[in-house]
Amino acid sequence: MRDVNHYLKCIQCGAHYLSSEIVYICKNCGDLLEVRYDYESLRESVDTSLWKERPLSVWRYEELLPLNKASVRVSLGEGGTSLHKSIRLAESLGLKKFYVKNEGENPTGSFKDRGMTLGVSKAVEIGAKRVACASTGNTSASLAAYAARAGLECIVLIPSRKVALGKLAQALVYGARVLQLEGSFDDALRTVVELAQSNIGLYLLNSINPYRLEGQKTLAYEVWDQLGGRVPKAVIVPVGNAGNISAIWKGFQDLNQLGLVTNLPRMIGIQAEGASPIAEAFRKGLGRIDPVPNPETVATAIRIGSPASWKKALRAVNDSKGLMETVADVEILEAQKLLARLEGIFVEPASAASIAGLKKLVEDGVVSGEEEVVCVTTGHGLKDPEIVERTCEKPVSVGAEKNSVKRALGL
Ligand code: F0G
Repeated sequence: MRDVNHYLKCIQCGAHYLSSEIVYICKNCGDLLEVRYDYESLRESVDTSLWKERPLSVWRYEELLPLNKASVRVSLGEGGTSLHKSIRLAESLGLKKFYVKNEGENPTGSFKDRGMTLGVSKAVEIGAKRVACASTGNTSASLAAYAARAGLECIVLIPSRKVALGKLAQALVYGARVLQLEGSFDDALRTVVELAQSNIGLYLLNSINPYRLEGQKTLAYEVWDQLGGRVPKAVIVPVGNAGNISAIWKGFQDLNQLGLVTNLPRMIGIQAEGASPIAEAFRKGLGRIDPVPNPETVATAIRIGSPASWKKALRAVNDSKGLMETVADVEILEAQKLLARLEGIFVEPASAASIAGLKKLVEDGVVSGEEEVVCVTTGHGLKDPEIVERTCEKPVSVGAEKNSVKRALGL
């Protein structure tokens, strides 16, 4: 089989770069890059009947992933997550057709694994020995795991004291060199980008690396597959650094360019109130964001004031006739419990932002009860167990005999 022909293109000035070049941002204008394909030849060569023979996973769609055929795939079994038809929650929200795409089912418990399988495979393909990222937690957990799998040195920069315990534990146990930076995620990202550009042999795996987003776009293909070859009316995604919503939109656009679908979903991005520069720009109809200097939210994964991929995200939302919305921390925590108690799905606070956002949008009449909606829940609840101690009832202490238990239960 042939290699997948692709190149990198600047989303602003259109400059092209060869796939063999290691470049993260446009050398001409400093904007973001994206992977482009020759869709005409892909339309002829992609045979979807082959996909049906492969397990539902990121690599089911290998013809649309920019990795050379001879290259090693660094894989831990990513993708293939459930699309749960959520009847009880749908009823409580006033919806008829509602699904949860639960990305917490990925190997390290978040959607980041879709991007890292491709990104770390790319690192190996180009001969990198050392990979790095800045992270609010999940990216570092995922990169650390895939780097371990590939035998690469892994360096992660995290904001000090603001990373949930489970994620920190993951980065440590997988053997990453974990540096806690005095500052925010935005400071950590700026620093790691500078490091990657300073000739010390660091391959950068934040989502400004366009290869990572190619892995993450497969979520859209899976939803299309799981719905039997159609796309929903709306897809709701929590937004932090804004790579994922951009990636998912690109996946749906691919399906359209390949002639596999004619309609496209509205992309709806949800930010936490205290960290919502993109939602703010959307609300004001601005073509740029004003970064939030001190972002704050209980959803630490999306505690980001200056999202790197804001421009891609705004385009995704505008081009799809979607929208951006914000939710308060209390709404996020309520939605986390609601999803757990009505559907048995435990997600971390950032993920629950998509559910909280949906609830608000249905109440406000922005999403109608008739629409088929998919909410993406991005990370597993066990990542951040401490939050549950704050939001749920404490266990009741009882004596070790029947009557004591009966009394406590009021039975
Ligand atoms: N949900 C979770 C659980 C996340 O970890 C993140 C991002 C997002 C949503 C937002 O995705 O950044 O693509 O808009 N976490 C990054 C990290 C920033 O470092 O783990 P995004």
